Amino acid sequence: MNVLIIGSGGREHALAQVISKSNSLTNLYAIPGNIGIAKYAKCIEINPLDNNAMKDFVIEFNISLVIPGSEVYLENGITDALFETSAFVFGPTKEASQIETSKEFAKNIMKKYDIPTAEYEVFSEYNDAKEYVLSKGVPIVLKYDGLAAGKGVVVAYTMFEALEALKTMLVDKKYGSNKVVIEEFLQGEEFSLISFVFNDVFIPMPIAQDHKRLLDNDLGPNTGGMGIYSPVPIIDNDTILEAENFIVKRMVKALLAENIPFVGFLYAGLILTANGPKVIEFNARLGDPEAEVILPKLQTDFLDLINGLQTENVLYPIWKKQFNLGVVLASKGYPNHYDVSVPIYGVESLGDSVYHMGTSIVNNHLVTNGGRVLLVCGEGKTLEEAKQKAYNYIEKIRCDNLCYRSDIGNKSIRGMNNG
Ligand code: AMP
Ligand code: GLY
Repeated sequence: MNVLIIGSGGREHALAQVISKSNSLTNLYAIPGNIGIAKYAKCIEINPLDNNAMKDFVIEFNISLVIPGSEVYLENGITDALFETSAFVFGPTKEASQIETSKEFAKNIMKKYDIPTAEYEVFSEYNDAKEYVLSKGVPIVLKYDGLAAGKGVVVAYTMFEALEALKTMLVDKKYGSNKVVIEEFLQGEEFSLISFVFNDVFIPMPIAQDHKRLLDNDLGPNTGGMGIYSPVPIIDNDTILEAENFIVKRMVKALLAENIPFVGFLYAGLILTANGPKVIEFNARLGDPEAEVILPKLQTDFLDLINGLQTENVLYPIWKKQFNLGVVLASKGYPNHYDVSVPIYGVESLGDSVYHMGTSIVNNHLVTNGGRVLLVCGEGKTLEEAKQKAYNYIEKIRCDNLCYRSDIGNKSIRGMNNG
């Protein structure tokens, strides 16, 4: 079969890698793709946000399966636009994607179907929001209601920070929307549980732990994710089962009951509180960098899995029992202003251990072209081994404008050593 991946980051690189191993693959295409994806797929220069051009491509190239990588394509209605073609899109409709694109939509469903999450209220008036924040006190969490590439969430530890953030969101309308979700601050270990979903059938993947803050010891601003590992020894199996049954299963059933069936990757961002796992957010896609440490563990044929879901002949996947750990190399200055087009050396020698998140080729040379630039991964029988390998590989890369965290995986490594 002919398969199309939409996107240009590390997540799509990992998808291309796993799909390229499938026995039923004929041709693999990526729009627009990147230099890492080009190893496995033919990259096509079409604007992925031009749904008519995408539709023409899918028809002309006889594509049977389309996998949108980012929520941006889902919000732009790619799944709905391709309904008229014979391709199967493994990604939710624009309506179902609201589970990610509208915090208010997601929160309302969680409340209605008793899915554990932080308590919250939604506001559009600054004065009402201010009064609520003053009555609740800090720490408190403010979430702009819409897509903001991981930057629309402020965890405020002081009242000054909270009110400044509220002003940015509701008075200056920095992100465009006029709604903010204000929620209870939850404390505990975070983990990502991503599932393949087809209506009410879901197949969970091994969990991963992201590192959202820019700096070591979880300091600095929130980012799209600075490092990742999978599985996560500090989260026990009972918690994972509880999350599968009371969070993922309830959500897929809830969406069906609301007549908004979900097809695609459902990502639950969870936190293990003293009262069990609770939802921080849902996403309507694979995580990035989660995909890069989870998909390489898949031993079952990826396309067989997707075909099985679609034909209700569900296969249960086998995952390699190993640890995968990835460290993001980001442009200095990210998540705010940063330079691009800085040359990078030494990547080629690392082969499949490096995923391209934001690179390009200028004059035949690899250069930086984004905030998060590369994900360097190690794998091993233990988390320490995976970590050691990833950091050893990083030493082989030279670039004047990259920075990274040095403590990826430490919480679980410490947890295991203490336990
Ligand atoms: P989100 O974009 O919703 O994933 O939020 C980004 C990050 O903010 C999360 O990964 C958490 O670290 C933090 N965060 C979000 N909501 C909460 C909450 N209710 N309590 C504590 N931390 C939160
Ligand atoms: N790694 C976080 C995300 O993909 O949303």
